[in-house]
Amino acid sequence: MENFVFYSPTCFVFGKDAESQVGAMVRRFGGSKVLIHYGGGSALRSGLIDRVKASLEAEGIPFLLLGGVQPNPRSGLVYEGIELCRNEKIDFILAVGGGSVIDSSKAIAAGTVYDGDFWDFYSGKRIEEALPVGTVLTIAAAGSEGSPDSVITREDGMFKRGASGDAIRPRFSVLNPALTQTLPPFQTAAGITDIMAHLYERYLTNSKEVEVTDRMIEALLLTMIHEGPRVIADPNNYEARANIMWAGMMAHNNSCGVGRSQDWNSHNIEHELSALYDCAHGAGLAVTMPAVFTYVMQHDVMRFAKAAVRVWGCQMDFDHPEVTARAGIEALRNFLISIGMPKNFAELGAKKEDIPTLVQALCRGDGRMGTISGFVTLNEEDCTKIYEMMV
Ligand code: NZQ
Ligand code: ZN
Repeated sequence: MENFVFYSPTCFVFGKDAESQVGAMVRRFGGSKVLIHYGGGSALRSGLIDRVKASLEAEGIPFLLLGGVQPNPRSGLVYEGIELCRNEKIDFILAVGGGSVIDSSKAIAAGTVYDGDFWDFYSGKRIEEALPVGTVLTIAAAGSEGSPDSVITREDGMFKRGASGDAIRPRFSVLNPALTQTLPPFQTAAGITDIMAHLYERYLTNSKEVEVTDRMIEALLLTMIHEGPRVIADPNNYEARANIMWAGMMAHNNSCGVGRSQDWNSHNIEHELSALYDCAHGAGLAVTMPAVFTYVMQHDVMRFAKAAVRVWGCQMDFDHPEVTARAGIEALRNFLISIGMPKNFAELGAKKEDIPTLVQALCRGDGRMGTISGFVTLNEEDCTKIYEMMV
C-alpha cells in the first residue's frame, strides 16, 4: 500500500425527509446568504426546491436562485453564477440536483474567490480556496456529493475537463433516497453504471498489496449487482435506492481509492463522448468500459481474473487466466445491457466518422501532449483502436 493523506470532512445527513435539515446545516457551516443552484426543472416539479426554500426561511437565511444547469454542465452558466455571487455577496452555494448541478456549484464556488479565469482549475491548477458548498442529492451516480472533483464542459471547443481540490468537497450533503424515486429508469441505470465505473477505475491499479481497498471495491460492486436489478424492477424500492445511494458516495469519496494508483482512462475516453454527443455520462461508460478493459487486459490479466472470480462468480481457469478475465468483462457488459444501457456507438448516438475528432480532443485538446495515462498509458493509436472497438 502507498502512503496517503485522506481528508474527507463532509457531513452526511441520510434518510427520509433529510432535506428538512438543510437550513440548519447551512447555518452550522456558516452560510448567511445562499445561492440555490439547480438543474432543468425536476427539483422544481417534485416540490423539492420549495421544501429547501422553506427550510432556509425557517432559519432566517436569505437566498437567491439560479437554475438551468444542463447535464454535462457548461462553462457559460458557471461564469454567470460567479458574477451573481460576487455582485450579491453570496457566501454559501447550495446545489440541489445531480452531479451536473453539484459540479457547476463547485466551479462557481471556486471561481467566485479567484482573480483569474475559473477555467485555469480545469486546465490543471489545483483548487485551494472556494466558497463553501452544500448539496441536496437527487440522483445516485457521479459521487460528487462526497468528492473533491468537478467536471465542466467548455463550450469554446467542447472540451470536458475535471478540476480537484479539498476546498470543493461539500461541507454537507443531504441524501434522501426517496428523492431518487422520480428518476426515469434510464437515468437510474446510467447512475448505477457510473458508480460501478468509479469502482473499476480504482480496482485497476498498479499498486501491490492493497487487499483492504480491493475487498471494499468488490463489496460495493456486489452490492450494485444485487440492488441494480431490484431498483430497475421496482423504482419505488426505498431500501434498494438507499443502498445504491450510499454505495455511490462510498465509490467516489475515495475511501476505496487511497493508497493505490488508479486508472481513469475509461472516464477520460467517455468524457469526449458526452462532450460531443451530450449523452448521459453513465451510458457512455457502459459502452466505453468493456472496450477499454478488453484492450488493456494483458497488462495485468490476473487483476481482471480476480474481479471475474470474486465479483462475477466466474470459474478460475489457471491454465488460461485470460479466459477468466474475458468472462468477467463479458459479465459486466451483459449486466449493463440487462439494466438498459447501450452496448455500442449506434445505441449511444455516436458516429464512427467522428473518431478522429474524439481522439484529437482526448489526446491533444486543451494542452494534452498526445497520451492519456492511468492503469496503462494510451497514445492516439491506442485510443483510436478503443473507439473502433465500440462501433
Ligand atoms: O436537470 P434536471 O431537470 O434536474 O434533470 C436531471 C438530468 O436531466 C435528471 N434528474 C436528476 N435527479 C432527478 C432527475 N430526474 C428526475 N428525478 C430526479 N430525482 O437526471 C438527469 C441527469 O442529471 P445529472 O446531474 O447530469 O446526472 P449525474 O449525477 O449522472 O451527473 C453527471 C455529471 O457528473 C460528472 C459527469 O461527467 C457528468 O457531467 N461527473 C462528476 C464527477 C465528480 N464531480 O466527482 C465524477 C463522475 O465520474 C462524473 O464524471
Ligand atoms: Zn463517473
